[in-house]
Amino acid sequence: MTGSDRAAVVAGLGSWVPPTVVTNDDLARHLDTSDEWISSRTGIRRRHVIDPGGSTGDLAVEAGRRALKSAGEERADIVVVATSTPDRPCPATAPEVADRLGLGGVGAFDIAAVCTGFVYALGTAAGFVQAGFARSVLVIGADTFSTILNPADRTTRAIFGDGAGAVYLRAGAATEPGALKGLHLGSDGGQSDLIQVAAGGSRQRSTGLPAAAEATYFTMEGRPVFAEAVRHMASSVTTTADAAGWAVEDIDKVVLHQANARILAAVAERIDVPLERFPANIERVGNTVAASIPLALADASADGELLPGQRVVLGGFGGGLTWGSVALVWPDITAA
Ligand code: COA
Repeated sequence: MTGSDRAAVVAGLGSWVPPTVVTNDDLARHLDTSDEWISSRTGIRRRHVIDPGGSTGDLAVEAGRRALKSAGEERADIVVVATSTPDRPCPATAPEVADRLGLGGVGAFDIAAVCTGFVYALGTAAGFVQAGFARSVLVIGADTFSTILNPADRTTRAIFGDGAGAVYLRAGAATEPGALKGLHLGSDGGQSDLIQVAAGGSRQRSTGLPAAAEATYFTMEGRPVFAEAVRHMASSVTTTADAAGWAVEDIDKVVLHQANARILAAVAERIDVPLERFPANIERVGNTVAASIPLALADASADGELLPGQRVVLGGFGGGLTWGSVALVWPDITAA
């Protein structure tokens, strides 16, 4: 295989959500909200959350194990975990996940791009494979936003859920199904305040003063985030399809970060692709941040919605702000 023929190929897919379910009615018992408001504004009906004592790493290990199984592999050269809710601020979560998966002393690191984390991680991993620095990479997206939400914030409590999803990338040929192509990444740090946890990093810790409790919670300005998500995911998907050599109308499935069912509908309208081509599992899991795209892939694959040979574009948008997308022809794999 020459350098230009070598590609990173999706060869396995796994996902995991913790068993505890919180329905909209459960939230309405403690907060001034309703199933009607949440489902009509977001498309979400329930979400999964970890039990006390659980962690993002626990979910990442489960999803990673399943992706390895799906690929029929027992090892990977590198483990990348995309997360904004690491088990600890320091060190990264990935080394412990690699250890718990029995992968020995492989390279392992985290990537933080909030809801775009999985796309950023996939792009980074593909770079290692394509450059010949690794033959395989286990890419895991895992988050437990239930641990950083303000219990009194009805908006974020309604939207976010916990979960993990993982893809096994291996070296292959650019012409193979599953080969990644047309990666596009973007950011707008000028709007970093729209989605944030204000304290816990160097800015609010370096004062030496304890942070106010509210500053340790996740906050989001829903309206501008909605508009930016639609704008950037639509243009990113178009850019990536173009780079892959596809007309937008030739895309069979657009698997977007599951932030809000109305965002999916607005992107579909903007790029003029029928909404039926946008797989959605948001009703069952909510917004699972870095886990969202691989979880949506696993569910769409299990539901028979995502089929081998289909032209697929994956797209994300999130805090940073960040956005990105990547294209591939869906390979013949079974999600575990
Ligand atoms: N239940 C009931 N009412 C709620 C509510 C809830 N869970 N959450 C917010 N509201 C209220 C607000 O307080 C506001 O009340 P007010 O008019 O009395 O002030 C009203 O509903 C409208 O709020 P607004 O934020 O304008 O609603 P919206 O239609 O924009 O929907 C979001 C809010 C958060 C669902 C929507 O903006 C959204 O999905 N944004 C993108 C979020 C996202 O995808 N984030 C992740 C990006 S990666």
